[in-house]
Amino acid sequence: EIKACLFDLDGVIVDTARFHYIAWKELANDLGFDLSEEQNEQLKGISRMESLEIILSLGGITLSEEDKLERAAKKNVRYLELCQQMTPDDTLPGVRAFLEELEKASIGIGLGSASKNAKVILERIDMLSYFETLVDGNRVTKGKPDPQVFNLGAADLQVNPADCVVFEDAVAGVQSAKAAGMFAVGIGDRAVLTEADIVVPGFANFGLEDLQQQFKQTGT
Ligand code: G6P
Ligand code: MG
Repeated sequence: EIKACLFDLDGVIVDTARFHYIAWKELANDLGFDLSEEQNEQLKGISRMESLEIILSLGGITLSEEDKLERAAKKNVRYLELCQQMTPDDTLPGVRAFLEELEKASIGIGLGSASKNAKVILERIDMLSYFETLVDGNRVTKGKPDPQVFNLGAADLQVNPADCVVFEDAVAGVQSAKAAGMFAVGIGDRAVLTEADIVVPGFANFGLEDLQQQFKQTGT
């Protein structure tokens, strides 16, 4: 029985992935190389400093710890500047209606994100009030694909992992959900999110009834 839903933020609730990409690309360009969209896919769900390490290794570049921290901070300033253009209308299609269905059904709602900016972003798009708990990049010590982020969310909402559904657009995030023993709904492409229990393109044509049905059929 579904007792709680845990949502990733970037790429599930709101399309911030394009802003992360712009800011990372500028960081790479400053260092003299480019970052492709395909390479950017590997960064989804991965923390800021881990993402930087991946980018530096893609560019074959070594930096001092101090330089890394400075560049990561600069990237974040740029990212937040880009996020300023967001409004509540940038919430991905169907998300708000889906969360309202969950509320009516008294199903717990939690956030499970690697982002340290999660709260600011949720405020900006006027979605903060839906969430009973936020597990974000300021709380987790082990990033996705480690299950910690979703385990903390389930503990906060006092539900068993088997009664939790996770919504994720990242490969590492789906792995994290499965490692936590939860039902994983991939948001995006089935060919990419191969380990998800089901994959849907988004919430536009997906409601609680659809989820309940799939959970019964596919879940354990
Ligand atoms: C999410 C995004 C990543 C981002 C990470 C850290 O997982 O998918 O692209 O790097 O959060 O975000 P932050 O806002 O803390 O830099
Ligand atoms: Mg994501």
